[in-house]
This record gives sequence, structure tokens and C-alpha cells, in this order.
Amino acid sequence: MALAIYRKYRPKKLADVIGQENITTIIKNSAAEGKLAHAYLFYGPRGTGKTTIARILSKIAECETRQKDPEFAKKGEPCNKCQACLTIDSGQMLDVVEIDAASNRGIDEIRDLKENIKTLPSLYKYKVFIIDEVHMLTIQAFNALLKTLEEPPQHVIFILATTEYEKVPATIISRTQRFHFRKLTLQEIVTKLESILKSEKISHHKEALEMIAYLADGSLRDAESLLDQIISLRGANITVQNVEDILGKVDFSKTIGMCDLLIKGDLQKSLEYLYDISNQGYNMFQFNKDITEYLRRVLSLHLNPSLETMFIRELAESEIKEIKQHAAIADTDKTINLLKSLITAYSQMKYNPFPIVPFEVAIIENLKK
Ligand SMILES: Nc1ncnc2c1ncn2[C@@H]1O[C@H](COP(=O)(O)OP(=O)(O)OP(=O)(O)O)[C@@H](O)[C@H]1O
Ligand SMILES: [Mg+2]
Ligand SMILES: [Zn+2]
Repeated sequence: MALAIYRKYRPKKLADVIGQENITTIIKNSAAEGKLAHAYLFYGPRGTGKTTIARILSKIAECETRQKDPEFAKKGEPCNKCQACLTIDSGQMLDVVEIDAASNRGIDEIRDLKENIKTLPSLYKYKVFIIDEVHMLTIQAFNALLKTLEEPPQHVIFILATTEYEKVPATIISRTQRFHFRKLTLQEIVTKLESILKSEKISHHKEALEMIAYLADGSLRDAESLLDQIISLRGANITVQNVEDILGKVDFSKTIGMCDLLIKGDLQKSLEYLYDISNQGYNMFQFNKDITEYLRRVLSLHLNPSLETMFIRELAESEIKEIKQHAAIADTDKTINLLKSLITAYSQMKYNPFPIVPFEVAIIENLKK
């Protein structure tokens, strides 16, 4: 595969963006009415579409077809065919400037920017400045930016993006139209991975994709990079075994198996099971994390069954079914103690030449009679 998946499958128009419906709808409607804002702030977790939508928005601003054809403009999407759209897609558009505030904290860029925004766009309608990781700017750079945000020229659009909203000064925030990006759900990620694999003509097991999506924790970019890794190492078949081998992730059924023994209090079988997992070369840290996460959910559902509606965003239905069954029989105090011990064991495992030992001790302490 010549091109990394996450670049090849980056959405080119709003309709292709997964999730983030509130955001795409608002942008589309304002584009349809020809009322773009002059400063946006996109914030939310990594790999959820901030840069992607920033680029689509730049195309909407510059698209020549939209400017020539009022009927087309009402669609609120870029045409993806005109020179402006194509140049932006290839990353060569001079009037769309992407600044990465993380790499040099932006002092020179923002100084240049102040000069730069005074000049008119070279060929197109707007100058668009996308400032990524905007929370990394220095105070001086923020101050310079603030001045320009106070009275942005008509031909300028700012799109600020960040994963750390709290670190952006309130004075900046208040001058922008804000959009909160959310993590993508497990199902949304699986569906996108399925469609990528279909185009690439690569076969797969659904559980393998669920595992990847689970690990990606709401980030589509992470899911796509993991998929890329597996394809490059294992070729044209994505199986649970391949995912486990490469990502060191233990199959969810093994997590369930282990937790089943723990919840039922079977000390002997729990130790055998753990020993077995360790012998098979699984990553013990990951396994501890998986069990902790599973028991945390068991405890939550035990105490508040309505949390199921939250978990459905992050887990497959079959997994939730198992968790529910365990929640029905789990004991609150025992589960809390087990969780505490597992968390302590996790930090001890890091400094132990035999990471399995603290893990075993945690189990013994809790399950011994
Ligand atoms: N909502 C989404 N819909 C479709 N694809 C997405 C979405 N979010 C992310 N992706 C995929 O992940 C890749 C990276 O997304 P993007 O660069 O937009 O993330 P980001 O939110 O800017 O992340 P970061 O905070 O790390 O910069 C995209 O090229 C695309 O393939
Ligand atoms: Mg980004
Ligand atoms: Zn266009």
C-alpha cells in the first residue's frame, strides 16, 4: 500500500465525515447561506476529524465552483474538482496556511502572520490560517493572535485546533465560534474500517476490527494506523490472531474468561489461567489493564445498570452482554478490593523483573479464603 490509510481515506467533503454531525450540519448550513465565520476553534480528542474538517472548510471558503454557481453553493460542500479544491487537497495552496504551534511555539509564524494577513490572497477569495495545537503558542504569540482576532480582515479565516481546550486563553476562546469534537464510537470506527478493507479487497474477521477499534479509544486515526501496521505485517487477512500478535492485545474472550474466574472467586483456576496467558507470550501489562477496565465496567453496571447506554459507545454488544451477566453476580466490596489491588500491582509490575508476580499476589490476596 503506497499511501498510508489515514491519508488515503481522509474525507474530502462534509458528508464523508463520520460522527460529529452537529459540527458538519452547522458548517454546511452556514456555507449554504454564504455566512462563514472569521474564527473557529475546533477542540476535542486526537484523531477525531479536526484537521480534516479544517481542510474541508478551507475548500468551502475557496471553492471556485461555489463562487460561480449559486445553486451549487447552496449544497454547502466543496466541489473537489476546481483548481482551488485540488490545490488544497494536494497541500500546495498558498492562501491556506497550516501552522503547527507545537513544533516551534509559533512566535515567528504569528509575527509573520500579522504581516501576512494584511496582504490580500494571491489568487483566491480568502486567506485561511489553520493553527494546529494552538494551546502550545507562547504568551507573546497568543497576544499577537488576539489582536488579529479582534478585528479580522474580511478576507481572512482562522481555524484554531487543539486537543487541550483548557490551555487556550479565555480571551481567544471568546472570539471564536467553537466546536467540540467527540470520540468516535466503537461501531462508527468498525464501520469505517470495514469500508476501507472492502475498497482494499482485504478480508477480515469482525472481532479483529472490534479489537482494533477498542484499542483506538475513539480515535479514527489511531484505528487506521493500527490497521495499516497489521496489513503491512500480515497482508491480506485481518484475523484476531494477527491483531493479538502485533498489538500484544489479549483477545477479549480471554479477559472475560479471567474475570469470570475472579468474580466467582476460583483462586486455583485463576492462577492457572494467568500462568497460561503469560506463557502464551501476551503482554501482562495490557492484560492487567484489560481486566481492570472490565471489572470497572462490571462494578459500574452493578451499581447503575443505566450506564449500559454509555458503554455501547465503546464496546461491542456481545461484550456488553458478558459484562451484564457478571454485573448481576458481582459483589461490590470484593470487586472494589480486587480493582485496588490490580491498580497497585500494575505500578509494581513496571519495576519488577517478573511482572507476573505482583499480578499473582494481587489475585491471591483477594481470593484466598
Ligand atoms: N470524523 C472522522 N470521519 C472520518 N475520518 C476521520 C474522522 N476523524 C479522523 N478521521 C481519519 O483520521 C485521520 C486523522 O484525522 P484528523 O487529522 O482530522 O484528526 P485530528 O482531530 O486533527 O487529530 P489531532 O488532534 O491528532 O491533530 C483522517 O485522515 C481520517 O482518515
Ligand atoms: Mg489535527
Ligand atoms: Zn471547488
